[in-house]
Amino acid sequence: MRTIFKVKMILLSIMILLFGTTQSVVLESDENHIKSATFLSESFEVGPGKVAVKTLFDIDFPKGHIGVKSFDVEVVDEDGNSVPLYETYLHHWFAVKYIENITMSHYIKQSHDVSNGIEYERNDGACQGFLLPHHWGLGGESRGTSSNLPNPFAVELGNPTKIKHGFKEKWLFNIMVIDTRGAHDRKGCSECRCKLLNLPKDFYNVTTNINGQLLSRNYKGGLFCCQDNLQCKLRNGFHGPMRKLSLRYKIRWVDWDEHQVPLKFYILDSADRVRSNGSTPVHDCQVEYTIPRIHDSDSLHVKKANIPMTKGGYLIYGTAHMHTGVVNATLYGQDGRVLCTSNPKYGTGKEAGNEKGYLVGMSVCYPKPGSIKIKDGEILTVESRYENKFRTGAMGHFYIYLAEQIPNKDLNI
Ligand SMILES: *[C@@H]1O[C@H](CO)[C@@H](O)[C@H](O)[C@H]1NC(C)=O
Ligand SMILES: *[C@@H]1O[C@H](CO)[C@@H](O)[C@H](O)[C@H]1NC(C)=O
Ligand SMILES: *[C@@H]1O[C@H](CO)[C@@H](O)[C@H](O)[C@H]1NC(C)=O
Ligand SMILES: *[C@@H]1O[C@H](CO)[C@@H](O)[C@H](O)[C@H]1NC(C)=O
Repeated sequence: MRTIFKVKMILLSIMILLFGTTQSVVLESDENHIKSATFLSESFEVGPGKVAVKTLFDIDFPKGHIGVKSFDVEVVDEDGNSVPLYETYLHHWFAVKYIENITMSHYIKQSHDVSNGIEYERNDGACQGFLLPHHWGLGGESRGTSSNLPNPFAVELGNPTKIKHGFKEKWLFNIMVIDTRGAHDRKGCSECRCKLLNLPKDFYNVTTNINGQLLSRNYKGGLFCCQDNLQCKLRNGFHGPMRKLSLRYKIRWVDWDEHQVPLKFYILDSADRVRSNGSTPVHDCQVEYTIPRIHDSDSLHVKKANIPMTKGGYLIYGTAHMHTGVVNATLYGQDGRVLCTSNPKYGTGKEAGNEKGYLVGMSVCYPKPGSIKIKDGEILTVESRYENKFRTGAMGHFYIYLAEQIPNKDLNI
């Protein structure tokens, strides 16, 4: 029940149901038998200063028993042009897996009622309940962050022997974008600063935090202030047109066969206040945090969490989902060895993908397969470092893919 509550809170409370009317654009094959397709999501409308938080159910996705090699997303306008972050800030997109009762599919599609017949399937960890459940997802850094998984590794999906009988695997997007055209304070608006938004009068009386308790009146900004259809204060006299935007997403995959090696995907939160209950870790991911105003400090702001990995494996890929202001993020092993550092790339121009002053990419670690092993039960440390400036809704999410086994022929030490 707790899980269902979380689902409702994070995904469903502020959503508008939109069912897919997407179009498939390209299908190609290359010498590694990798197929690729580019899809366009259903559109959503934004206007100057407006926040849009949407859940798009049943998005187009490759069918069958497959291994996904990459999943890349960007925001485009009605003509298919890339939209720069200073116009529409992409706070996040999450691709979330769920299974749907086949006999109820028709009803769900007609009624848009998802309270029955759907079960959400989260990634491999490590947050509690349904926090950070996605299998893919980034934010403003999407265009410059590689999601490619090296051969022979892939994320296995659609295995008919693993899908509950009578159910079908499906995908949804949970997205948050902020149209900052004309915003009085673009940066603050992108960080969901509560003071900049036209919150309803009873906002703090009715809005609950990640643990289901009333939001503190000291909550200065972040996910909970960026609700669908709220608006950031605009510069005097600013007018701009409404626009229809979509996510354009490219998925590359292979048909599953004995040559593919499956990966597990974990998201480790530097704001996880993990405790232990006997030998069982109890996660308490905060998902976001505030960097307080400090006037006389040149040092960096560091947030750290020590996270036990119940199951280990070989590190195949590592990166971090962070926000503008990030200096770097590092994952350490229990003995202090650096497993991966992810470094930011900041934009220097005007064009989409290189927006000046915005975080436009995070580097990815690709250790030689077999060279970095995380032991079962090993306690990893995630460290996210930001410039020490007031910032709300800061995130430090480390993304890792682990292979539990590597075939000898693919060991490449
Ligand atoms: C699917 O939904 C139908 C209709 O509500 C129900 O009778 C059936 O038990 C469900 N199937 C499973 C496997 O839960
Ligand atoms: C919100 O709660 C405060 C007391 O905590 C109360 O004074 C105020 O009237 C409430 N506002 C609304 C709009 O319900
Ligand atoms: C801790 O473990 C005990 C016994 O296994 C269990 O009853 C309790 O609910 C756990 N507490 C938390 C917070 O998970
Ligand atoms: C992260 O950045 C800080 C500040 O520039 C630097 O001192 C540190 O060495 C970096 N960490 C890693 C692991 O590269």
